[in-house]
Amino acid sequence: MNFKEKFKEGIISAKDFNREDIEYILKRANEMRDDKKYRDLLKGKILATLFFEPSTRTRLSFESAMIRLGGQIIGFHSGDVSSIKKGETLADTIRTVENYCDGIVIRHSLEGSALLAAKFSKVPVINAGSGSGEHPTQALLDLFTMVHEGLKLDGLNIGIMGDLKYGRTVHSLSILLSNFDVNIYFISPKELMLRNRDKDYLRQKEVKYKEIEKYRDILNVLDVLYVTRIQKERFADIEEYDRVKGFYIFTKDDLKETKDHFKLMHPLPRVDEISPEIDNSPKSIFFKQAYYGIPTRKAVLSELLSD
Ligand code: CP
Repeated sequence: MNFKEKFKEGIISAKDFNREDIEYILKRANEMRDDKKYRDLLKGKILATLFFEPSTRTRLSFESAMIRLGGQIIGFHSGDVSSIKKGETLADTIRTVENYCDGIVIRHSLEGSALLAAKFSKVPVINAGSGSGEHPTQALLDLFTMVHEGLKLDGLNIGIMGDLKYGRTVHSLSILLSNFDVNIYFISPKELMLRNRDKDYLRQKEVKYKEIEKYRDILNVLDVLYVTRIQKERFADIEEYDRVKGFYIFTKDDLKETKDHFKLMHPLPRVDEISPEIDNSPKSIFFKQAYYGIPTRKAVLSELLSD
C-alpha cells in the first residue's frame, strides 16, 4: 500500500508511521522545497484549519504550505469564535466543516480529539496537536530538519530535554525515532519524566534510552539536543509548575562543551529554556526548524489532498 492509500483518512499518530513512510515523506518534503514546481498542485482545494488552542508555527505553516500549493484556506483560531462556544459538540462541528473543505487540520486540548475528528470526517484529518498526546507533523519536520542539517538518524545520540510528561512534540518525536537505530537520553526533573505508556512503547520497539536529570555530563556525547518548554497550560496545580519552571537554561557555556557538528533544536515557542545569546550560533537551528515546517507540510498536504 502506498503512502496516499495508507493515510487517506489522515495523519493522527506517529505510531502509524513505519520507516518506509518516514523516508518517503522526507524525500517528498525535499522535493517540495522547490516552490515554483508545485504551485498549482492543490488548485481548487480547500483546507480547514480548526485551532481550538493557540498556535503560531503550526497553523501559519500549514496555511502557507496550502497557499504555496495553489489551494485556499478557511478556519478559526480560537474555540471562542466557533459554535462549540454555544454548546455544539466536536463531532457535530466536524460533520459540518467536512462539507466545506477537502481536508481538516485540527488542534485541540483533548488527547483523543484528532482521532475523534477522523472518525466523523469524510475528508482527511491532520492532527496539529492533541492536548498532551501527540503532534505528528512536528515530529516529521523535526526529522527533516536533522537530516537536512547534516545529521544521520541511524547511530544518532539525541538528548530530549524539558517537559517530557506533557510535551506532545516529545511523544511524537520519540515514536518516530523508534524506527531508527538511536540512543535517546530523556532529560527532565522527576516530576516531568516520560509517562509509563510512552516508555512501554519504546521498550516494545527495543529503543535504547536512558532517563537522567542533569544534562551537562552528557553534552560531549550528543549529536543533537532537543529542548522543550515546560507546558504551563497543562498543569492542574500552578504551585507544581512553579517548582519546575526554569529548571533548565541552556547557555553559551553549555554550547562550548558540545561536539563540532552538534545541533540545538526546539519546536518553539521558547520561554527561557535557551539563552538568546546563542541564537546566532550555527549550532542553534531552531528557527531553521520552523522554516522546515513548510516543505514538510507541503509534502503531507500534497499526499492527502491531491487527486
Ligand atoms: N511547534 C509548535 O507546535 O508551535 P506552535 O504552538 O506555535 O504551533
